[in-house]
Amino acid sequence: MTILVTGAAGFIGSNFVLDWFSQSKEDLVSLDLLTYAGNLENLSSLNDNPYHHFVQGNISDRDLVSSLLKKYQVRAIVNFAAESHVDRSIHESKDFIDTNIVGTYNLLESARSYWNDLDQNLKQDFRFLHISSDEVYGSLDLTDPPSNESDPYKPNSPYSASKAASDHLVRAWFQTYKLPVLTVNSANNYGPYQFPEKLIPLCILNALKGKPLPIYGDGQQIRDWLYVKDHSAAIREILKQGQIGDTYNVGGWHEKTNLEVVETLCAILDELKPKSNGKRYSDQIIFVKDRPGHDRRYAIDASKLESDLGWRPQETFETGLRKTVIWYLENLNWVDHAASAEYQHWVKKYYA
Ligand code: NAD
Ligand code: TYD
Repeated sequence: MTILVTGAAGFIGSNFVLDWFSQSKEDLVSLDLLTYAGNLENLSSLNDNPYHHFVQGNISDRDLVSSLLKKYQVRAIVNFAAESHVDRSIHESKDFIDTNIVGTYNLLESARSYWNDLDQNLKQDFRFLHISSDEVYGSLDLTDPPSNESDPYKPNSPYSASKAASDHLVRAWFQTYKLPVLTVNSANNYGPYQFPEKLIPLCILNALKGKPLPIYGDGQQIRDWLYVKDHSAAIREILKQGQIGDTYNVGGWHEKTNLEVVETLCAILDELKPKSNGKRYSDQIIFVKDRPGHDRRYAIDASKLESDLGWRPQETFETGLRKTVIWYLENLNWVDHAASAEYQHWVKKYYA
């Protein structure tokens, strides 16, 4: 049997696949369109692994997905494929609708048709695990409790609205067709292989290049930060033991303001890579125009995952961030390759 991982060449998908092969010899098909955010280099350590099969393609391509499901006798789909950057969704939302909503719909339909034809035992064991975000719950006030699985959806950006729509489709395919689904709503991830448009890698790289570290608005927006390898462990557990039809919130229990995140990161760099002129990296912090509709606070209540499946994050924010900074310092070549011409073009167009 095999698992099919979509969006496997992206940040979280590739971390998940690498983590999977550190514990398993089951076949795994990586399906990825290789958009600007997908990078095959993330999976290059698996080039000689006979259990890994990479296929370039779109989750919306039903012929392709159906043939992969049959050919590899897939027992589970883990769907990471998405457009994932909020800023991009504000400037150009169409790809978010196409992949996050229509793509998820097509993937659900391909899965349903394959699943319908399976023998009873295989049918019972099949899983469609959908990866989503804490952003679907919308912005919290400072005094609100962290979001739990029964909170209402209140998405505010084109990105979070598209993820919310995909979650509703997944839920409906369970309620209506009994497709055995699981949904995972995760906090902000950080760690190796994150594309350098997101806050943490962007600030590490700008700091090293002596460029400004742009903080949107007053920098007091709060996010809950989850080390990506802790997320992979949670997904494995949910795939193994999760209750069909259920949603699981995954978070790091580490709420930080954006300013705290960047200051902590600067302090780690001061220690690991001190500047030759004796100055501090935090001197490079600047405050820039805020993101429109910028959500003030996200926070995840991950206690269901702990009580039902025994999962807790292993990393604190400080240990996870230190590992992340070290990884970027040791992999600057990866960054050069990841920052493609298309990405440079986009940055010039919108962040001029
Ligand atoms: P990413 O942008 O790094 O990777 C997305 C991957 O999907 C890329 O490899 C891309 O090539 C691929 N892809 C895009 N459209 C596709 C399509 N139509 N068909 C096949 N592949 C396609 O994103 P990420 O940060 O790794 O996020 C993965 C998932 O986790 C997404 O669903 C995202 O919404 C969710 N999520 C991310 C975070 C986070 O902090 N990064 C937090 C919560 C949830
Ligand atoms: P980001 O990494 O884009 O993830 P998301 O929007 O999915 O949470 O941003 C994390 C937070 O950091 C968010 O509140 C926006 C803020 N931010 C900045 O202040 N400056 C930046 O240059 C970026 C990219 C993000």
